[in-house]
Amino acid sequence: MPEDAALKRVNPVGRIGAIAMKESAPHVAIVGVTGAVGHEFLAVLEQRRFPVGRLKLLASERSAGRAIPYNGREYTVEALTDRSFDDVELALFSAGGSISTRFAPIASEQGATVVDNSSAFRMSDEVPLVVPEVNADAMSHIRPGCGGIIANPNCSTIIMLLAVTPLHREANVRRMVVSTYQAASGAGAAAMAELETQTREVLDGKPPTCSIFKQQYAFNLFSHNTEIGANGYNTEEMKMVKETHKIWGQEGANRTRITATCIRVPVMRAHAESINLTFERPLNEDRARELLEKAPGVRLLDDRANNRFPTPLDAAHGDDILIGRLRCDISQEPIGSGMDLFVCGDQLRKGAALNAVQIAERLIGIEAR
Ligand SMILES: NC(=O)c1ccc[n+]([C@@H]2O[C@H](COP(=O)([O-])OP(=O)(O)OC[C@H]3O[C@@H](n4cnc5c(N)ncnc54)[C@H](OP(=O)(O)O)[C@@H]3O)[C@@H](O)[C@H]2O)c1
Repeated sequence: MPEDAALKRVNPVGRIGAIAMKESAPHVAIVGVTGAVGHEFLAVLEQRRFPVGRLKLLASERSAGRAIPYNGREYTVEALTDRSFDDVELALFSAGGSISTRFAPIASEQGATVVDNSSAFRMSDEVPLVVPEVNADAMSHIRPGCGGIIANPNCSTIIMLLAVTPLHREANVRRMVVSTYQAASGAGAAAMAELETQTREVLDGKPPTCSIFKQQYAFNLFSHNTEIGANGYNTEEMKMVKETHKIWGQEGANRTRITATCIRVPVMRAHAESINLTFERPLNEDRARELLEKAPGVRLLDDRANNRFPTPLDAAHGDDILIGRLRCDISQEPIGSGMDLFVCGDQLRKGAALNAVQIAERLIGIEAR
């Protein structure tokens, strides 16, 4: 189905008269459970003791019949079909844009509230694009178990906004320049396997097998593997620009000016980003530290004496976005009108599964934790 047609079938505010989610644990479906994000969904739900009634694990026909453990039980993966969402109240999607475009509206029509990790609905006016620490209000009209779609932002956008929003609220970011260093895990389970295989091949003196990426990935880095548009920016870069404006609720000439350069680096898991900010109101380092120390979902790791700052390994498998290299930008005057920072975050967790589960927690009334 074309994306537009699918969007017309979205029920963004929930199906009137549908059975509201029961007080008991919601019935949950995970679409794309065998993938990198799907695997993380199960880990996050289990670790956070998310209340799950019945659990349905969905993937392609290739995975049907596979057994996957969750919370001490084995579940059998089912092939995704139009009938997969009977009696599902919460559907967590991470199976790519075309699957979301086709099946998220079906799930929504059947009364499931969908939290979608793909980019299919992110820029749709009727669909809230949510980072709970930043704009939870955007989904306040969605009633759990009554249909509706909520989009999870792009992983690089989420990581950036966790770090920058506390500073933006204080000093109003007028311009933002970001460069990313993105891990294999951001491109899914097959890309992680490719990095591992290539690393072995190169060390063994063999030519690297390039299937997911066109170029050698091991011991190399390259511009993000998404399409380049007419303006010279790739899709990932433009997602960071457009999604930030939507999440911050900015329109027209007053939007923060944002430019991004997205690079894929041979790191297995967790993205890094170098961020340069220009403020409307001056902000000094002490105040910036104070704001970030109080902010949810972030942790300062900024030890100048020992030259110890965030790394992807520090961030991997963790929930917090790590922030370091915090300093006033000496090229912007007066001092305090600009700032640099370097952040790392596990994009399978806060960049995908954790953010989606936090959205689901808010939907069913679990307070931020
Ligand atoms: N990786 C990240 O850091 C990240 C972050 C944010 C958002 N996302 C988004 O999340 C989605 C999944 O990403 P991923 O990295 O987890 O990809 P992945 O590792 O390649 O996993 C893809 C999942 O989709 C399933 N799938 C593929 N075709 C299907 C079909 N026809 N019917 C049902 N299921 C199907 C796969 O099932 P089989 O195993 O059966 O093929 C697998 O479970 C993408 O939209 C991606 O853009 C990813």
